[in-house]
This record gives sequence, structure tokens and C-alpha cells, in this order.
Amino acid sequence: MSDLVRTISELRDEVAFWRTEGHRVGLVPTMGFLHEGHLSLIENALGDCNRVITTIFVNPTQFGAHEDLDGYPKDLDRDLSMVERAGGHLVFVPNPAMMYPDGFATRVEVDGLTDIMDGAARPGHFNGVTQIVSKLLNQAQADVAVFGEKDWQQLAIIRRMAHDLDFFTEIRGAPIVRDAYGLALSSRNFYLDEDQLEVARKLNVILKKAAYDIAASEYPLEICKAAALDLGEAGFAEVDYVECRDAQTLQVVEKLSERPARLFAAAKIGKARLIDNVAVI
Ligand code: PAF
Repeated sequence: MSDLVRTISELRDEVAFWRTEGHRVGLVPTMGFLHEGHLSLIENALGDCNRVITTIFVNPTQFGAHEDLDGYPKDLDRDLSMVERAGGHLVFVPNPAMMYPDGFATRVEVDGLTDIMDGAARPGHFNGVTQIVSKLLNQAQADVAVFGEKDWQQLAIIRRMAHDLDFFTEIRGAPIVRDAYGLALSSRNFYLDEDQLEVARKLNVILKKAAYDIAASEYPLEICKAAALDLGEAGFAEVDYVECRDAQTLQVVEKLSERPARLFAAAKIGKARLIDNVAVI
């Protein structure tokens, strides 16, 4: 079995020991209830690290007041065996009181990138993400940390933060893992019943078609509006956004240029809020 540690000092001791043995260390931060997408992050880290830490922590500060913090799915035993199967070496499972002890008063905010798309739909969400990720990066001092590209905006924000604050750890993105129907894997897919799953699987289909239309017309705005309507018609209860943005700066793209563009969407079905993104090529 992979080792399980629950305290920051145990984590640091283990990493310090690995360093004495000359190992390269990878970090995969998660909120648990792992799926194949998470395992692909561990596998990605194993590509150039010979020790990989997976963290499991449902971070309360990145959930809004009416979001799914209390009901967020959990299954630690299953997570541990999945990490084992992927070849991970250590699982760090801190508790909220240790991560946010009494008197905790520090915020980590990235301007600009955090108030668009998911930041607009979930105010404060990314401040919680940067707060916890900066702590995990400091605690683990890994050589590389791997995050999924499904959360493209989160990845861009973490990259900005790590660059601006001179974090030691290199931040790396790993491709989205999808089911056989193209639905991006997410722990929140667990909330979907069979009918909802059928609707959820249309998200990627509609996005891919819109990305194709944008590439052909070069003018994204009307196509994004039409895609949002298509999502509503497909059965999504609410569409937070469908937006075409520069893949790096996340600025809105009004006309395609030679810079890479991406199409992003978030929509709700049942208890699940799903996000996805595709390249416009
Ligand atoms: O992407 C996630 O699962 C979370 O936002 C993260 C990066 C583990 C921080 O809690």
C-alpha cells in the first residue's frame, strides 16, 4: 500500500528522507473521490518523478455558502487503493483544523484571472484554491505539481501565482480524461442519474461543434451564444457561460488570431455543475 500520512511534519519528514536518497518528487493535489482522471495525473507525475504524493483534502474555503461542501463525495479506502494502483507512493490527508488553525488570517489572491468565468459564477472560489494550493506547495516542496486541464482556468491561476510568488515547484497541466462518450471525468459526475448523465454527455458534443464553427467563421461571440442556447435545449437547467478566450491570457477572443484560443463552458444539471473546455483549431 502507499503510505498514508495525516500531518505536515510526517509529510515533510518523508520528503526530506526521499531527498537524501536523491529522488525527484511529484505532487498531485486532489479533493479525493478519485477517478481515472486523477490517476492520469499521478501517472503524468511518475513520468519524471520517482516519488509521487497525492493529497486528499476537501478544501472548505473554495466552496460558496450554498455549494456542495457537506455532500461532497468521499471514500478514502477506495482512494487509497486507486493511488496504489496508479503507483503513487504517499497519500497526505490533512484535516481542516490543521490546515486552517485558529487565528488563520492569510489570503492569497491572483488579480484579473479570478473574476471571470468560474470566478464570476463562484465568487471567492479561486481565492480558496490559491490559498490551499499555496499551502500544499509549501508543505510538500515537490519538484513538480500536476493539475488537470479540465480546470483550465484554475491551472492558469495557479501558474500565475507560482510564477509571481517564486514557488519552487514547477506547475504542470495534464490532458482532460473523458469517458467513452466524451464527458470529462469529474468527481461531481457521481451526482448524476442515468438521464442526467445522458444530458451531461452533450456538453462536450456541443462545445466541440461550436469550436469547429468558430474555427470556420473566426468570430466566436454569436456562436458562443448559440451554444449556450443549445445546452439549455439539451436539458441543462442553467448555463453559467460559454466563452471563447485566449488559451494563455484568458482574455475574451472577439476575432480569432494566430494565438491559441479555447472554448470554455459551465452548466448545471441536477446537483452537478459541470465544466469543460476544448481547443479551437
Ligand atoms: O482541482 C481540485 O481538485 C482542487 O481545486 C484542488 C486543486 C485540489 C485544490 O483544492
